[in-house]
Amino acid sequence: MTVDNEEDLEGLIRAGRVVAEARDAMAAAVEPDISTGELDAIGRGVFRRHGAKSAPRVTYGFPGSTCISVNDEAAHGIPSMTKRLRSGDLVNLDVSAELDGYWSDTGMSLAVGEGSSLSLRLVEATRRAQSGAMEAAMPGRRLRDVGRAAHTVARQHGFCVIRDLYGHGIGRALHEAPSVPSIDDGQRTLLWEGLVLAVEPFLSVSAGQVVDDPDGWTLRTSDSSLVAQFEHSMVVTGNGPLVLTT
Ligand code: CO
Ligand code: CO
Repeated sequence: MTVDNEEDLEGLIRAGRVVAEARDAMAAAVEPDISTGELDAIGRGVFRRHGAKSAPRVTYGFPGSTCISVNDEAAHGIPSMTKRLRSGDLVNLDVSAELDGYWSDTGMSLAVGEGSSLSLRLVEATRRAQSGAMEAAMPGRRLRDVGRAAHTVARQHGFCVIRDLYGHGIGRALHEAPSVPSIDDGQRTLLWEGLVLAVEPFLSVSAGQVVDDPDGWTLRTSDSSLVAQFEHSMVVTGNGPLVLTT
């Protein structure tokens, strides 16, 4: 959506606060031996307290309130009470919700307990790629510039971007046009003031694409290498990104 009035902006800010609160509460609970189902219940509790609804559940019938993906799982991992995290795992929490007709989406990756130096480097590179991509999302620049910014940071750190996963427009639904690349894919569409985007590069150690898991939801790296993602919902403005999910 495009924001052009205070009411819409306030609605987006409220929705953004809820998903950020859920993400941070889940991240604070990440420790060895906690199950992904328990983490999901923490996110669900935050949604409920604010009267928000899980976006993937409402939109796609996803069997969880949040998506929790581990190690080589890039996205859409299904929370489970029997899936326990171990020290050294890399976990991604992707949290999206609807509140009063406004939709917001955020995600982060973090190491469980003692992370390997490789996973810590991957997490930091992904955080920087996400931030660089948001900084490139200025009015008058093109969608391909956002992708190029993410890809440049990934390469500087010696990592790959997952080319077949995209960010997206957001606001009145979870997934809106345009799709936001994490490489220069040639999209010449100019960005404009007020456009609301979810920017979410995925970086991996060595994979450029994902494959479907037989569970019908989970996306894994094609070569089983580690993958990380950061995601924020933001408004494009001439003063730089107005980040809704910090
Ligand atoms: Co997301
Ligand atoms: Co998203």
